[in-house]
Parts: sequence; C-alpha cells; structure tokens
Amino acid sequence: MIDLSVKIGSLCLKNPVITASGCYGVGREYGELYDPSKLGGIVTKTITLRPREGNSPPRICETAAGMLNSIGLANSGVGAFIRDDIPFLRKLECARIVSIAGEGLDEFAELIRRLDPLGEIDGFEINVSCPNVERGGLAFGTDPDVVGKLVDSIRPLTQKPLWVKLTPNVTDIVKIGKAAVDSGADALCAINTLLGMAIDIDTKKPMIGNVVAGLSGPAILPVALMKVFQLHTALPETPIVGIGGIGYPKDAITHMIAGACAVQIGSGQFPYPMLPLDTVAGIETYCVIKGLSKAQEITGSLILPVK
Ligand SMILES: Cc1cc2nc3c(=O)[nH]c(=O)nc-3n(C[C@H](O)[C@H](O)[C@H](O)COP(=O)(O)O)c2cc1C
Repeated sequence: MIDLSVKIGSLCLKNPVITASGCYGVGREYGELYDPSKLGGIVTKTITLRPREGNSPPRICETAAGMLNSIGLANSGVGAFIRDDIPFLRKLECARIVSIAGEGLDEFAELIRRLDPLGEIDGFEINVSCPNVERGGLAFGTDPDVVGKLVDSIRPLTQKPLWVKLTPNVTDIVKIGKAAVDSGADALCAINTLLGMAIDIDTKKPMIGNVVAGLSGPAILPVALMKVFQLHTALPETPIVGIGGIGYPKDAITHMIAGACAVQIGSGQFPYPMLPLDTVAGIETYCVIKGLSKAQEITGSLILPVK
C-alpha cells in the first residue's frame, strides 16, 4: 500500500494532485466525469471583489504544443461565488483552495475578510499575476517588495494556509518566492502562464483580442520544471506546488522529482479530461516500480550530474 498523502504546511492532502485555477471551475462540469473528491485538491477560478467581464474576444487560441489565453479574470465576483459555489464546495472531500486577486492590497484584504469565516474553504491561493492598479497595471508578482507587502497585509487576517502563485515573467523567481515566504506564505505555486502572442498571417491581426496572452500547455513544461527546481533548491523547507505543462502523468512526476511536493494540472485537462485522476494512478504506479512506500519520496529526488 503506497502512502500518497502530502502535507503542505498545516494542510494534509490525500494525494499530490490538484486542479489548477481557471481550468476546472469549481469542479461542477468535470464532476460529471469523475468524483473530484478523489483528487488531493482543487483550486477554484480566481475571484475578485467585484464582477469582471474580462478581456475582449477572441480569448483563447491554440499554439504549437499549447494554447494562449487572455481571459482577463472574468468572474462573477465574491458575492456570487459565496452564493453559487460555496454550497457545491461543501460537498467535496478534498482540499478546497480558493484563488483570489485584487487590484490593490485593500481588495485582497477585503476578499480574505469575507471568505475566511467559511468552513468550505481550506486555504487561499494568492494570484499575483494580476495587474496592480497602484503600480500602473504592472503585475504584483514582478516585484519582491510588493509581494512581501501584500503577504504581510493579509497574513494577520487568516489562520488558513496562504499559497502564493508566482508568475514566470520575471528575471529571478527565487527573489519573489523568498519575499512571499519571508512574509508568511505557507507554500509557493509555480508557475502561472508565460506571456506570448500569435498572429494570423492572412489578416495580419493578433489571434487574441488583448494582443498579448498567457501561454500554457506542454510547451511550457521545461520552463516550469526549471522554476520549480530553482525554488526548491533555494528554499528547500518551503512546499512548492508545481504547475505548468503537465500533459501526461509522467510530466507530474518530473515536477515532483524537480522539487514539487504536489502538482496542479491546468490546460492538459482540455484534451484529456481524466488526466488528474490518471495522474494519481500514475504516481502510485511509479512508486511501486521504484520501490517507494510514500509519494513524498519522489519530491526533490533529482540526481544531478557530478561536477
Ligand atoms: C483558460 C485558462 C484560464 C486560467 N485562469 C487562471 C486564473 O483565473 N487564475 C490563475 O491563477 N491561473 C489561471 N490560469 C493559469 C493556470 O492555472 C496555470 O497556471 C497555467 O495554465 C499553467 O499550467 P498548464 O500548463 O497546466 O495549463 C488559467 C489558464 C488557462 C489555460
């Protein structure tokens, strides 16, 4: 019997597989295919204080080994989330992590104040890839001081786990991750999408209404692995949740070998909806083949070349 459980700070997950924000809703639709409670956890679509319409269409397009999206955090706002989605989350027996974003520090704080009392929420994922109005629209997550201040300001408002989801669109992701951990983040999630664009040669127009969009899917796996490896190497005591480019169960195992204690699966579910469940099985099979009794033994097991 393999022990698939994983501890991320104070939170215990039954296995290391989580669905990524924006790619699973709250699990209603995928719930028709399989029981989301079989997963380690889910991260809900990022919500904001007020409803947001999001960016102008087209919002997604397929690219080589991946896709671009520029949804622009379209969501119905925290009030509708509490009314419509919390009753659904109540039924789930896996970790329910709610992703939040604000335009300024006060909005993040207000979201935590409204959501913290709800027993259906097991933790928060702080999406710092969103534009910060106070910084002229630059993403929060590109400046270690801003990330530090943000975590400092919300840490006293909740005892629940705070995970900070990092953007890869920075020179040094370790500096940003360290700032979050120094201010009290319980875990780092890496990575959000990479910025990119695509062009139609007939119309000479960008394929995405917002011109620039976020790249995800198998194309970003090597980048994600490197960022996870860098974070785990610099912050070996900090739980790292690996995200990016998981298209097959074996990709999740590479994230864990690089240093992730758990993984999140995003756009890989679109062509392969059973991927999260198959990944749970794949991790278990890998442990059997490698003679491991616990999935956590995979984390950080990378063998580096001897210099
Ligand atoms: C359509 C779409 C919507 C997304 N929405 C969010 C979101 O609301 N919040 C967030 O933190 N990440 C969002 N993401 C990013 C994913 O959670 C994930 O970090 C990224 O896609 C990389 O993982 P993947 O290669 O497995 O898709 C979204 C991604 C896609 C494809």
